Amino acid sequence: MPYRTIIEPFRIHSVQAINLPDSEARQAAIRRAGYNLFGLHSDEVIIDLLTDSGTGAMSSRQWAGMLDGDEAYAGSRSYYRFQEAVTEVTGFAEVIPTHQGRAAERILFETMVQPGSVVPNNTHFDTTRANIEHQGGEAIDLPSPDAKSPAVAHPFKGNLDIAGLEAVFTKLGPDRIPLVMVTATNNAGGGQPVSLENLAAASAVCKRLGVPLFLDACRFAENAWFIKQREPGQQDRTPAEIARSMFDLVDGCTMSAKKDGLANIGGFLGMRDPELAAECRSLLILTEGFPTYGGLAGYDLEAIAQGLREVLDEDYLRYRIRSTAYLADKVDGAGIPIIKPAGGHAVYIDASALLPQIPRNQYPAQALAVELYLEGGVRGVEIGSVMFGKPQADGSELPAPTELVRLAIPRRTYTQSHIDYVAEVVLAVAARAKAIKGMRIIEQARWLRHFTARFEPLA
Ligand code: F0G
Repeated sequence: MPYRTIIEPFRIHSVQAINLPDSEARQAAIRRAGYNLFGLHSDEVIIDLLTDSGTGAMSSRQWAGMLDGDEAYAGSRSYYRFQEAVTEVTGFAEVIPTHQGRAAERILFETMVQPGSVVPNNTHFDTTRANIEHQGGEAIDLPSPDAKSPAVAHPFKGNLDIAGLEAVFTKLGPDRIPLVMVTATNNAGGGQPVSLENLAAASAVCKRLGVPLFLDACRFAENAWFIKQREPGQQDRTPAEIARSMFDLVDGCTMSAKKDGLANIGGFLGMRDPELAAECRSLLILTEGFPTYGGLAGYDLEAIAQGLREVLDEDYLRYRIRSTAYLADKVDGAGIPIIKPAGGHAVYIDASALLPQIPRNQYPAQALAVELYLEGGVRGVEIGSVMFGKPQADGSELPAPTELVRLAIPRRTYTQSHIDYVAEVVLAVAARAKAIKGMRIIEQARWLRHFTARFEPLA
C-alpha cells in the first residue's frame, strides 16, 4: 500500500449537530447531575465517550434492511434472517434474541446459577457481575497476571488466568461452578484481547471437568482483529474465520448487539445444547417476548443481521482499531498514564497514577471524569471503585483493583478532528492534575450504584 493514512471506510450520509455549552452551563449541569455523568442530558455533552454501546452510526444497508422489517409476533421473516446471520458467524444452532446483552445474562444465569454458585471470568463486566450476584452466586475475576501492570504492553492482556482457573476448580470442585465465562475483548480490563491459545486452554480445562464455557461476545470482531494482528499463525485468516474459531471453542455466548452487532439495540444468547436453550426460552417468554422476537422489533433484528456481517469487514476493523489507538498514542505521547496497549473500543486513563494525591476511597477516576466534562464537555465513564468497590461489614469499602476513566469510542461516529479535540481536553486536564480533589458519595442504590449515585466534591 503506497499510503500510510488509514481512512474511515465510509462517507457521511446524514449528520447530527452537536454543540458545546459554555463553562457556566457545564458547571450547572454537573451540579444538577450530582457529579454523576450518567445524570447529564446528552445535549449538555459535545463528544460523548460514555459508552460504545448502541451509540454508533448504522449503515445505509442496515437502515434499508429496517424498512423491510417483518413485525409478525410469531415466525417473523426478520427473525429467520437474524438467526441465519448469528449461526453463520457463531456456528450456534440455538439462537435466542434478547433486547440487549444483560437480558441474555439474566436469562442464562437464572437458568444456571444458584445461591452458592461461583462463576469465574477473565473480568466480569458490571451487568454480568450484578446478574450473577442477583442469583445469589459469586462472580470471580481471574485476569491474566499480565494485566496487573497498566503501563506494560502485552499482546493479550485480556487472557483468562488458566492457573487461577485450575486453582478455583481444585478448591471448590466443579459442582459449585455451573459455567465459566470469558469476555472478549475484556472490557473492564482495558478492552484487551483474548488469544485463541488462551481460549483453547480454558476450553480444555472446562471440558476435562464437564463445565460449560460461555463467551461474553460483545466485542468478538474487535477481538478477532487483534488475534489476526498479534497471534502467531493467524495473519492470513479472515476476521470471520478467526471469530468462528473463537466460537468453536465455547459452548455458548451472551451477546450485546449494541457493540459488535453495529446496532442501536439488541442482543442474543447462542448455544449448542437444545435442552438448555429450551429452559432459556421459557424464561424469555416470561419477560422478553416470544422466541422469534425476544423483546425486539422485527426491524431491530434486520439491523443486527446486517451489522454482524459488516462488522467482520477488514477495512472496517482496521480503521476501528487504529482510530482507538490514535487517541491512545496522543494521550500516551503526552506522558499521561493509560492502559497499554490501546484497547479495541476505548482508551483507559489510569486515574490513580495521574492523580496520586487522591486516595482510592475518594474516587480519583470519578473526579477525573468530572474534570474532563468541565474542561471541554467530553463525557467518559468511571471504571473503578464507584463501579466495582465492595462495601464491607464495618462500613468501609474494598477498592476496585484499578481506578480508570474509560473513553469509549462509538462506532463509525466521530472523525479524526473530534478525537484531536478530545486529546486536547485530556491534556489540558492533565496539566492541572495536581489541583484536582476527590469526591464523596452522598446517595447510592443497592445494585449498580454507579448509574445513579450522587457525589459531592471534597474541598
Ligand atoms: N458484557 C460486556 C463485556 C459489556 O461491555 C456489556 C455492556 C454487557 C455485557 C451488557 O450489554 O449493555 O447490551 O446489556 N457494556 C456497555 C459499556 C454498557 O458501556 O461497556 P448490554
